[in-house]
Amino acid sequence: MSFDKHIVCIGAGYVGGPSMAVFALKCPTYKITVVDINQDRINAWNSNQLPIFEPGLDDVVLQTRGKNLFFDTDIPLAIKEADIIFVSVNTPTKTFGKGKGKAADLQYVEKVARSILENADRDKIVVEKSTLPVRTAEAIKGILYSNNEKNIRFQVVSNPEFLAEGTAVDDMLDPDRVLIGSEQTEEGLKACQEIISIYEHWVPRDKIITTNLWSSELTKLVANAFLAQRVSSINSISALCEKTGANVSEVAYAIGRDRRIGPKFLRASVGFGGSCFKKDILNLVYIAESYGLPEVAQYWESVVAMNAYQEERFVDRMVSFMFNTVAGKRIAVFGFAFKVNTGDTREAPAIHVCKRLLSEHAQVVVTDPKALDNARLDLKDCEGDLTFAEDPYEAARDAHAIAIITGWDEYKKLDYQKIFDSMAKPAFLVDGCQLLDADQLYDLGFNIISTGRDHKMHA
Ligand code: NAD
Ligand code: UGA
Repeated sequence: MSFDKHIVCIGAGYVGGPSMAVFALKCPTYKITVVDINQDRINAWNSNQLPIFEPGLDDVVLQTRGKNLFFDTDIPLAIKEADIIFVSVNTPTKTFGKGKGKAADLQYVEKVARSILENADRDKIVVEKSTLPVRTAEAIKGILYSNNEKNIRFQVVSNPEFLAEGTAVDDMLDPDRVLIGSEQTEEGLKACQEIISIYEHWVPRDKIITTNLWSSELTKLVANAFLAQRVSSINSISALCEKTGANVSEVAYAIGRDRRIGPKFLRASVGFGGSCFKKDILNLVYIAESYGLPEVAQYWESVVAMNAYQEERFVDRMVSFMFNTVAGKRIAVFGFAFKVNTGDTREAPAIHVCKRLLSEHAQVVVTDPKALDNARLDLKDCEGDLTFAEDPYEAARDAHAIAIITGWDEYKKLDYQKIFDSMAKPAFLVDGCQLLDADQLYDLGFNIISTGRDHKMHA
């Protein structure tokens, strides 16, 4: 079959996979090839066991794979064939050298740009899908036009991704907006129009926003910073609620009813996790510092500091109510994924909580419906009494406390009388996300330590 256009995505991760699967579903006359250097990942995308868990994704991949969606490791060939190349590789925080601990590590993006230059033999549009520091397009262009003996024209366009894990397919199918930034030249605007025409297959035109390159790149970092800042704001208030008898869920609900504030991202938690919030804010902090704006940098850095405080506070409060020691006590950690509906554990608050509990010599048993394999990897170097259990009832047996870190729906439906009966006494329920009905569980006999509200202890 001949296709109207060939789109290639470099990077078959949490963004590249789901976003391109939806492109393939909605643009049946386009050929979409997703390539990666990781052979295992590509094998998994070509198997019945996709490398990531994402609701609805299996179905979209089944409908498109082998028809107009392909997963491959032949990156040079894909680059040659492509009309449009999306770059969706990882951009982690630098762990070395200048900007260590804050700046984005752009080595993977740079390698991709060099590989495009090496293998391209005709004009290409290169799209930044990865989250990048503002003005990265300048550097990418610098590489693409270095040693460009073949006289190829490259247009660099920014099209950051706003999908959230756990809702990636729905977010792609029905985005709040699509953002496309391009050079404000005739060629740049033409390239922008090419990207618009992909999304126009299913996204209403008024949801597609176009800007200059730098606004688009910066918007992505700012969007994540604003979302994370709301979580840190409500988490700071959760600490005050615990001292004053106010209930953070009630406060969040009441402030969120103000339409200027809105109800989303006001759920107090053990802290925000995920691969992006922390790294993107630190990147923003680094950029502000680099441009000589220390006040701006400090403002955003406090969002990350508040998150670390919240994770720390969760364990401190738990230990203090459990008679100042958890040594030798079995603690069942309910939920390890950084949020519900994903198996992803990158920067999950549960990692820190488990490490802290192990350092207090607790016996830690971790359960999670989707993230146990990743949890095993994350904690593989930890010393201490650490086990894993598929079944939450099994995890809770003989435990002194259950600590709910990820608010999986499954945990609402458990038989807590049965769980209480199987636990050591006094039995503690430490609810990091106000998932369960504290009053009901208190009546069953649990001592309740719930984030953002007063504790409830039996005498
Ligand atoms: P990921 O680590 O899951 O996937 C990145 C993939 O790129 C990996 O499979 C890796 O092997 C591959 N890769 C690295 N270098 C390569 C190269 N030279 N050639 C080919 N493949 C290469 O990362 P992700 O979560 O998909 O994130 C990708 C980007 O999207 C990041 O910049 C991230 O900030 C951004 N983002 C992520 C999310 C999310 O929900 N995870 C949402 C929006 C934006
Ligand atoms: C986030 C953004 O929501 C996406 O728009 C963005 O594309 C993505 O980052 C990215 O750039 O990677 P994601 O991290 O997948 O998506 O998930 P979120 O739903 O934003 O949750 C992030 C963290 O905040 C989770 O740990 C979650 O539990 C926590 N959170 C979220 C709260 O603690 N309270 C809330 O009210 C909301």
